[in-house]
Amino acid sequence: MDPENDDRKEEDGKKDDFIVTPWMVKGDVDYDKLVEEFGTSRIAPEIIEAFRRLTGEVHPFLRRRIFYSHRDLDEILRRYENGEKFFLYTGRGPSGGVHLGHLIPWIFTKYMQDKFGSELYFQMTDDEKYFTSDRLPLEKTQDLAMENTLDLIAIGFDPKKTFVFTDTGYMKTMYSIAAKVAKHTTLSTAKAVFGFENSTDIGMIFFPALQAATCFLPSVLKGYNIPCLIPAAIDQDPYWRGIAREVAPKLGFYKPAQVHSKFIPGLGQGGKMSASEPETAIFTTDSLQTVEKKVKSSFTGGRDTQVEQRLLGGRADHCPVYHYYYFLFEENDFELKKIYDDCVGGQLLCGDCKTMLASRVKGFIKNHQEKREAAKAHLDEFIIEDSSGGLTKRSETKIG
Ligand code: TYM
Repeated sequence: MDPENDDRKEEDGKKDDFIVTPWMVKGDVDYDKLVEEFGTSRIAPEIIEAFRRLTGEVHPFLRRRIFYSHRDLDEILRRYENGEKFFLYTGRGPSGGVHLGHLIPWIFTKYMQDKFGSELYFQMTDDEKYFTSDRLPLEKTQDLAMENTLDLIAIGFDPKKTFVFTDTGYMKTMYSIAAKVAKHTTLSTAKAVFGFENSTDIGMIFFPALQAATCFLPSVLKGYNIPCLIPAAIDQDPYWRGIAREVAPKLGFYKPAQVHSKFIPGLGQGGKMSASEPETAIFTTDSLQTVEKKVKSSFTGGRDTQVEQRLLGGRADHCPVYHYYYFLFEENDFELKKIYDDCVGGQLLCGDCKTMLASRVKGFIKNHQEKREAAKAHLDEFIIEDSSGGLTKRSETKIG
């Protein structure tokens, strides 16, 4: 339960068998090891204190170290205290529906926007998902980008401060920046960072320049340097570590800062929630019956029989159901500890635990779906595109 050490270690302490790339997360992720390998920093108590000082509260994602690692977050907060505002940047590769995992960085980004008054630049990488998929035509990823934007709006971002674009819809604006990033990035760097091979299509080889370019977009559009903070799960780190932070000083920009989250697990045994395993992911558009069915058929850390469970207790640390409470469905630390203690003490059985979770997840999804429906009328207040120009919203260029 100690958030500093809540990394679900294997019982034998070994967790060598895992992969984390922007396109694949497999195995039981050793988050400590990623900090070492990627050269990031853990979120230290001083940073938590700075949040408390500046915002009057500490979001549970920080308190529980769901957002656990960073680069230059301390610098972002220092500059903010000295009167220099930062902008937020995050994104989505529209390959299908949005699931709970995608919402983790967005919920945190919304908290940051509310507390710091920051603008958010949100990139929908419709091109990336076309390049990496065998089944999705470009027109489909473009449609999905608009569908996924409804989920983003449902989170409650401020339309005046939120700018959403697709790569294909904003390419004219993005290209000059991406070209400069690409000029300073060799193929051997891209291969080393992303593992590209000869069979990789050349669209994908150029693509990282576009994902990096957004780090500099507001500075270019406004004509002065603005610090950038990127909330995302740690799978996106190669873009920042390998490309954006390398290129930034060469182009005269600040290095973008990051705050990295862990992955909410899927409902199966091991692995993150992922759209490629739809049975173990909860999508925002799932019916409430489907949500109930998925939660109730979840893998758990329970024992084979009720008798054993009462005797030995459950293994909450290895249980996705417990982790759902930890990530999203029990904000109160005292209540969370009670769920944990009752599980490992053998008083709380998996069936009851799943029934309680199913009802909370359904409540969350129902509420999200209502907001998502309402968002349909507001799409144009968020979208910027080349034809509207610069930071002008689609809604501002419509006649009548
Ligand atoms: P994508 O669509 O794979 O993921 C969108 C965001 O969701 C995070 N994420 C998760 N977070 C917690 N638990 C999970 N199980 C989980 N699964 C996914 C990802 O880290 C990401 O933050 N190329 C990007 C799109 C992109 C982007 C960005 C993302 C463009 N610019 C800037 C973050 C920041 C992509 O395909 O994300």
